[in-house]
Amino acid sequence: MNVSFQKSSLAKSSPWVALFVVAGKKPEMPRGMSLPKGFLEDFEAKPRSTRETYTGDKEFPRVLLVGLGEADAVDSEGLRRAAAVAAKAAKGSGCTAAGVYVSDAIAELAGGEEQTLRDVAEGLVLGAYEYQGAKAQKKNPKALKKLTLWANGTPASRGAKKGLALAEACNFTRELQNKSGNLLRPADMASHARKLATRSPQISCKIFDEAAMKKMGMGLFLSVSQGSDYPAKLIHLTYKPKGKSKGKISVVGKGLTFDAGGVSIKPSAKMEEMRYDMSGGAAVLGLFHALADVAVPYEVHGIVGATENTINGKATLPGDVHTGMNGTTVEIQNTDAEGRLVLADCLTYAQKKTKPDTLLNLATLTGAVIVAVGHELTGIYPTNEGLRDTLVEAGQRVGEKCWPLPLIEEFKEAMKGSVADLKNIGPPSLGAGSSQGAAFLSYFVEPGQEWCHFDIAGAAWNAGNRDWVGGPLGTGIGTRLLMEYLERR
Ligand code: BES
Ligand code: MN
Ligand code: ZN
Repeated sequence: MNVSFQKSSLAKSSPWVALFVVAGKKPEMPRGMSLPKGFLEDFEAKPRSTRETYTGDKEFPRVLLVGLGEADAVDSEGLRRAAAVAAKAAKGSGCTAAGVYVSDAIAELAGGEEQTLRDVAEGLVLGAYEYQGAKAQKKNPKALKKLTLWANGTPASRGAKKGLALAEACNFTRELQNKSGNLLRPADMASHARKLATRSPQISCKIFDEAAMKKMGMGLFLSVSQGSDYPAKLIHLTYKPKGKSKGKISVVGKGLTFDAGGVSIKPSAKMEEMRYDMSGGAAVLGLFHALADVAVPYEVHGIVGATENTINGKATLPGDVHTGMNGTTVEIQNTDAEGRLVLADCLTYAQKKTKPDTLLNLATLTGAVIVAVGHELTGIYPTNEGLRDTLVEAGQRVGEKCWPLPLIEEFKEAMKGSVADLKNIGPPSLGAGSSQGAAFLSYFVEPGQEWCHFDIAGAAWNAGNRDWVGGPLGTGIGTRLLMEYLERR
């Protein structure tokens, strides 16, 4: 299905149209639309409440009202949710084309027309997303093919176009997350990255194979991939701004296309979900999907460590020691704490090769972060308060909330090894599993480097239903958050 924007003067007719309504106000309608007498009468316009009618008009035969609640309480989340409700109703209408009309009064509601149209556009595209997977595709002649967003004015147009691009990037991230492990191997992630580079002349892509990684000394990354028969890939995407760059940001993503745990094998229950262990990498690829459409004044590097954590005859054994690209040795006490090993070398690579002003990494690193903050929040470990505040505000704005978690000296101390510099897990009595992961990673970040680790194991999957996001599969977390961070930086 295609979602597009058009200036409202072009809204001459549509077989099905959704209108937003605030409490106590009559909706402004496009020219030529009328509603049956009394239809608005006792519609209270509670948030996300709906009412549909046949109008008898030729131009606009079917109209859906979607409530937004009280005008002064409407915010970005409310708009995204209401738009998602409209998109789902459009899909269920049986019409092949449908429209969503945003009047001038509605466009003024939350943060002005650019912001409002961005939120509505995001809600439509995100709310319409459904993972098709490998289900046999029955041709449905009544499926919605075209959804048009109508509003007036240049800022509205700018906001809508940005919203559409960001949401499409987020859906791209979700699609990668949801794909079964056998449909998305590390090499497939690399192909997606290469394809992204063809979407914009400002984006380039380099892929390193295992031999190249070995040459660079990435022994920790390779200690994970050696247990898989599907070769690992190190993906490096670069975005160069058109004008002068205002700084350099490098984002590293954990790209475990499947995490079976290795020899420290995971229990079977829900193991199929471990295909989303590449969500950090998917967020980075999604970021570059967005950057192809939305300009930022920074040089951005995206680095994804793509591999599987499985078991063959060569798989790493508990107690094995391996050496990272920065010379640090690690005793691998638990092969299921693999993400930090892959990230360790990717972080070293990112600092050595791209020398970023700000280094970020996103990873489904620990089950413990789900215990700590659940599925609605990302645990973040920023190195300074400025970065923390920017990320918390960005997360609030895009509906991908971030919560700072502690990274204290005691946790770092606990990661020190006896037979190697470090071990990849702390003592069980220590608790704070997500912080332990962050503490391990901190050994691979140079002193003074601005950095933030995002533990997205909860937020990436299985979030509560908020209409545009949530449910049993991938949320697409990170892509819109990173773009919002770049916008606010
Ligand atoms: N990919 C997992 C973390 C995870 C768990 C993500 C559940 C999403 C849902 C990670 O590689 C892992 O296995 N972590 C271990 C670390 C432990 C061995 C120290 C964990 O969380 O149990
Ligand atoms: Mn694991
Ligand atoms: Zn993992």
